[in-house]
Amino acid sequence: MKQIALLGFGTVGLGVYEIINQHRGLYFAGKETPAAIKWILVRDKNKRRAVNPTDCVLTDDFEDIINDDSVDIIISAMGGMEPEYTYIKKSLERGKHVVTANKEVICAHIAELTDLANKNNVKLYYEGAVGGGIPIISSIVETLKINKITKIQGILNGTTNFILTKMTKEMRDFDEVLKVAQDLGFAEADPTADIEGYDVMRKICILASLAFHTHAKTEDVHLRGISNITLDDVKMADTMGYDFKYIGQALLKDDKYSISVTPVLLPKDSVMCNVNQEYNVILLYGDIIGELCFMGKGAGKDATANAVVSDTIKALNEEDSGNHINFAETANSYGLSGIKNEYYIRASVKNYDQFEKVIDLASGAIKKNNLTYTNSKVFFTTELIRSSDMLSLYEQLRECADDVFYARMEHSLL
Ligand SMILES: NC(=O)c1ccc[n+]([C@@H]2O[C@H](COP(=O)([O-])OP(=O)(O)OC[C@H]3O[C@@H](n4cnc5c(N)ncnc54)[C@H](OP(=O)(O)O)[C@@H]3O)[C@@H](O)[C@H]2O)c1
Repeated sequence: MKQIALLGFGTVGLGVYEIINQHRGLYFAGKETPAAIKWILVRDKNKRRAVNPTDCVLTDDFEDIINDDSVDIIISAMGGMEPEYTYIKKSLERGKHVVTANKEVICAHIAELTDLANKNNVKLYYEGAVGGGIPIISSIVETLKINKITKIQGILNGTTNFILTKMTKEMRDFDEVLKVAQDLGFAEADPTADIEGYDVMRKICILASLAFHTHAKTEDVHLRGISNITLDDVKMADTMGYDFKYIGQALLKDDKYSISVTPVLLPKDSVMCNVNQEYNVILLYGDIIGELCFMGKGAGKDATANAVVSDTIKALNEEDSGNHINFAETANSYGLSGIKNEYYIRASVKNYDQFEKVIDLASGAIKKNNLTYTNSKVFFTTELIRSSDMLSLYEQLRECADDVFYARMEHSLL
């Protein structure tokens, strides 16, 4: 029987323990199980826990684990960069397979850790790091065997999808809904990583790195959060037949990539617009297969543990030779240049002077018959314009109006 060490016994760790050692689900159901968790690493051994395992050893010292030659697989589910990055590296160097749900480590070190795993003839899997229970990493790996992937778009964060769903369906403003999300445990006490997009940024970079064979860097991502979306925006979008969604997007063109994480307006009858609450959805575009759409629970104990344990089963399978993705391409980001979109814009104006300045600045871009002025706010949509031009228009508008918000408009997304 193979031996596993589990780093972390929180939400994900507990779910993994239940499936493997408590024989939840089909694979580990029999008496003769192929593997068991021998060690669990925690920060505080004396902490009160819902489950106190008696069939494995709880330790707060990683040396116990790394020095145990009987351990074949390390499952890491702790969170943050250090010490998990170091533990993963040491594990690979010592010839142990690694399965992790840590997006921060994988996003920053995907190429280096893959290289290390290959050099040491071991496997590195990270399905749980993106999209919770959605098998998106393995699907990209499979799709790439035949296709060139040129586009990935997704709702990749359950917390922000929950917030936007509630704002839209119940016509409530951002702060009020964020509080509800925090009270229900859908949002952290410090929601910055979710609402400012750092979580989605890491996930879309991991997917882009895999799909485009290059290490996509977070510093190349055009990142905008959702906290500036007001109830006025939601109401205006509603009258136009659109809803707000928070979308991570990665595009490949002429072997250069462009990645963004921004609020987007989607038509109410599109598939992606109807993925609500904490659910995630990811669209892939392959040159042979066309569009593929994956949907499921993007986080949570069971969904994430399911992904982590299916990686563990692959690591246990000696016939499985690992992901074998190479990150050798050195594609650069082309930023926002060369991308054209229509945009929704809202600017708050105090007086006629400000109103006139806004209209003057935007006049070349405003779509015909698409301007509304109400309650000291100007709302309009644009013709198809370059994203880089939108960015400079936004900067100029901000100089003459009190509060400006804009969002890309999509007409399909299935
Ligand atoms: N929760 C989800 O739905 C979800 C979904 C996808 C991916 N993930 C990823 O999965 C990972 C784990 O998330 P989680 O929600 O399970 O976290 P969590 O509930 O906060 O649990 C973290 C666990 O790691 C242990 N730990 C943290 N730092 C440690 C250290 N320095 N040394 C030893 N043990 C340490 C903690 O020990 P103590 O118990 O002693 O505090 C705890 O058991 C993260 O990378 C997260 O991004 C989570």
